[in-house]
Amino acid sequence: MTTATATQAFWLAGKQATGSDTLDVTSPWDGRHLATVSVPTHEQTQAAVAAAAAAATPFAATPAHVRAAALDHVGARLAERAEEIARLISAENGKPIKWARTEVARCRSVFRWAADEARRFNGGTAQRLDADAGGEGRLALTRRIPYGPVLGIAPFNFPLNLCAHKVAPAIAAGAPIILKPAPATPLSALLLGELLAETELPTGSWSVLPVPNDAMPDLVRDERLPIISFTGSAPVGWSIRDSVPRKRVTLELGGNGAAIVLGDYSTDADLDWAAQRIATFSNYQGGQSCISVQRVIVDAALHDRLLPRLIAAVENLVTGDPADDATDVGPLVSEDAARRVETWVNEARDAGATVLTGGTRDGAAYAPTVLADVPTDALVSHEEIFGPVMTVTTVDGEDAAYAAANDSRYGLQAGLFTHDLQAAFRAHRALEVGGVIVGDVPSYRADQMPYGGVKDSGVGREGVRYAMEDYTYERVMVLTGLDL
Ligand code: SIN
Repeated sequence: MTTATATQAFWLAGKQATGSDTLDVTSPWDGRHLATVSVPTHEQTQAAVAAAAAAATPFAATPAHVRAAALDHVGARLAERAEEIARLISAENGKPIKWARTEVARCRSVFRWAADEARRFNGGTAQRLDADAGGEGRLALTRRIPYGPVLGIAPFNFPLNLCAHKVAPAIAAGAPIILKPAPATPLSALLLGELLAETELPTGSWSVLPVPNDAMPDLVRDERLPIISFTGSAPVGWSIRDSVPRKRVTLELGGNGAAIVLGDYSTDADLDWAAQRIATFSNYQGGQSCISVQRVIVDAALHDRLLPRLIAAVENLVTGDPADDATDVGPLVSEDAARRVETWVNEARDAGATVLTGGTRDGAAYAPTVLADVPTDALVSHEEIFGPVMTVTTVDGEDAAYAAANDSRYGLQAGLFTHDLQAAFRAHRALEVGGVIVGDVPSYRADQMPYGGVKDSGVGREGVRYAMEDYTYERVMVLTGLDL
């Protein structure tokens, strides 16, 4: 990526604008300056909200083919500019280029699904009401109506695709959106704005505003934004929800994903696959995914065969420059983030944990790390580390495995390595999570499936259609005097 020199504008009601303050975006890998981004003033933010509120009713009435065409256009442009966009994600986030390419491909899929759902999402169910005498000659028609403009607050870890998960369903449902990207990674979101600006979407139907975090409480409380869709940390998410109990708030928060290896998963090929997948998805994007593998729970019968494979797979990961095609694990988003991970690992080590590999930091990079014998009260056992660190725990049997996985205040997704279909159903019933991935890690996500957590991991669901349902409500119309 070339280093930008001019101040980069944001998108206010679909048009470029600049404010009086700026924010600098730097590479987490080598600290180089990537861009200076303009930050909206209070008045500009208010103007964007007013434009969204004014657009709400007409946008909801926009024909589905118009919204679908805009979404298709963004998808097509993502495909055309895929490599450039992947390089931008990698530069601002530190994500290895191979994972950034995956993110762009996923984002295309989000826009494709959204275009399809916009065409399908016609509400329009009809119900005869004459099951009771009072309903004779009456028919109820239902359609889904957006609550109003959406405030989408996105995190740094998927700076493009988690913006897409706010924007695309809003457009598909006919709800205006104000997107607020993470301060560390606004460039991908602003580029998404560039693609949206090429469409015929009406003025006010979307804005991309890099509003500073300290100005967010006012925006969150603004009554013209009845829907908030937030992805980020649990404390911030729950405080948003507590501050606006009457709003519709979707929270996609953290997790400390468990990968469970049951006793039947015992051939050499099984264990090679499990080790490879766990090593990869504990460390992809430096472990900065809400569904990365943090806790490995392995049946005692397999422990001695799995562990050496796991350590070897982790040590085989290539660490280094995120721009390099060969790199598996790059830096964390900042040196502060890596220092926090270091503190948590040191705390576990001081409390008796064994560091089987890793456990070192170099600037913003933290080495892929495997910990054993970690006390249950260590932070890395029960909080979300959001770094390239896994703990390994041994259990006896299925029930103990599910109990260990549930021993967490989070519940986003779990992975279950088993061939036993009955065990898969038992796990699906027992595990307190939003999704159970059988035969793979918790990190698997298809962008159209319902995605979200229970317990402290959040409330509501993303996945294009599920977000559209969250952004809308059913409005009934009853027709009377019909000759049914
Ligand atoms: C997240 O970190 O919550 C998003 C994970 C994903 O989309 O793969």
